[in-house]
Amino acid sequence: MTALTLSTSSAATLRADAVVVGVAKGPKGIVVAPGAEAVDKAFDGKLAAVLETLGASGAEGEATKLPAPSGLKAPVVLAVGLGEAPAKDDAYDAEALRRAAGTAARTLTGSKKAAFALPVETAEDAAAVAEGALLGAYAYTAYRTNGDAKKKDDKSAPLAEVALLGAKPRDKAYKAAAERATALAAEVHRARDLINAPSNDLTPKSFATEVQAAGKEFGLKVEVLDEKALLKGGYGGIMGVGQGSENPPRLVKITHTHAKAKKHLAFVGKGITYDSGGISLKPAGHNETMKCDMSGAAAVFAAVLAAAKLGLEVNVTGWLALAENMPSGSAMRPGDVLTMYSGKTVEVLNTDAEGRLVLADALTRASEEQPDAIVDVATLTGAMVLALGNRTFGIMANDDAFRASLHEIAEEVGEQSWPMPMPAELRKGMDSPVADIANMGERMGGGLVAGLFLKEFLGEGITWAHLDIAGPAFNEGGPWGYTPKGGTGSAVRTLLRLAERTAAGDLG
Ligand code: BES
Ligand code: ZN
Ligand code: ZN
Repeated sequence: MTALTLSTSSAATLRADAVVVGVAKGPKGIVVAPGAEAVDKAFDGKLAAVLETLGASGAEGEATKLPAPSGLKAPVVLAVGLGEAPAKDDAYDAEALRRAAGTAARTLTGSKKAAFALPVETAEDAAAVAEGALLGAYAYTAYRTNGDAKKKDDKSAPLAEVALLGAKPRDKAYKAAAERATALAAEVHRARDLINAPSNDLTPKSFATEVQAAGKEFGLKVEVLDEKALLKGGYGGIMGVGQGSENPPRLVKITHTHAKAKKHLAFVGKGITYDSGGISLKPAGHNETMKCDMSGAAAVFAAVLAAAKLGLEVNVTGWLALAENMPSGSAMRPGDVLTMYSGKTVEVLNTDAEGRLVLADALTRASEEQPDAIVDVATLTGAMVLALGNRTFGIMANDDAFRASLHEIAEEVGEQSWPMPMPAELRKGMDSPVADIANMGERMGGGLVAGLFLKEFLGEGITWAHLDIAGPAFNEGGPWGYTPKGGTGSAVRTLLRLAERTAAGDLG
């Protein structure tokens, strides 16, 4: 992974392949952001004018490369847009810094070292720039056999080193920010790698093996239920979804504990390693990206590891409900009735509504340990994508205050989300003539129907929220800010901040 160093050097004297500066849209045109004074001086104070001549405006997403004038040690200056300049004395928004740093890191793909001279006045600013740069410096190359990816002077390799200027390397808060950004980015990258891994290699079994290996590496307890244990344990939802595949299902539990923990969080992830739809087969055009249907499990796994790496004073249990949804002679059929882990029966009307079936069992199981709260994360419904688009996840909950907290936390860490309701009248659409409930209801409000289904499988009195990340989990468009094409690692940062806030006693 990209190395991060905090530096007090001047942007003019640090040896690097490029120096990154920020520019913004001021009331009278483009302005150079604080942090770039030494660079501007090397341009005789005309950096803004030079950039304006080249057509730069300071807009978010903009990246302009310039040859450096004499007086700078780096050969290249990269100006990245921060969007609207804040009013005098106001700080730059953390997400603007993250995105600009991410754009810079992506633009410098193939470079060895860059000095980031973006506006850093506080440890929070440093955290935002570090996160953006490290999250932007990502490439998935596991399956490249030729070309640059294997060469030493790899032109497609992520930026190798980030020197963060303006930071105070001996200040505790800055050091902690750098450590946190490094741990967080490594875990977001782990989630992205898992999501990008093709389903012929990432099966429930190989996913579980990866969790066991990481558990060993970081000293976390990992328990795996294989298909025999799931059958014996009565996990009808996970078994039903997995029974059509040659790759049998798993339920994985990974636990971070802290001796001083006062609270216990449970995270539950949907881990469908491939969603073909099953017998209710998805048509071509809807199945090409369905390797991403384990993004919830990847986020949960990554968040538990990040909490452990940072030694958070909170117990966090991750539950990964892993299965492959395939059609075959042994697959569950529309009309089948499953007896779930909770004992409730479900009529499967559509085998493509499989996520709620595996999650239901995992939610019931997670509830048995009476955690203070459960958060599930899932690429659950196309309806949520229709409602909120490709960058925003929906939040449902059985507790309005908890839903509001998660929305606020997501905003703080730079993840777009929106609170969604759980209208009680949608429950009757799932009434089944043969079983306790059907796995499908009204088409309208499909994302909310799925949330109402999950709620039925929670233990009594448990605070719960559900994040439907079907939109933001996988970026089919071009990269932007610190978000790459493909797996994004959506929800990892929200889960980690929830764990941090819970550890600090800020919640409930
Ligand atoms: N994995 C899909 C949801 C999905 C859609 C994720 C688009 C990512 C992008 C899920 O299992 C599914 O197929 N849901 C159905 C439910 C329906 C049959 C009730 C859907 O949303 O169409
Ligand atoms: Zn499905
Ligand atoms: Zn699915």
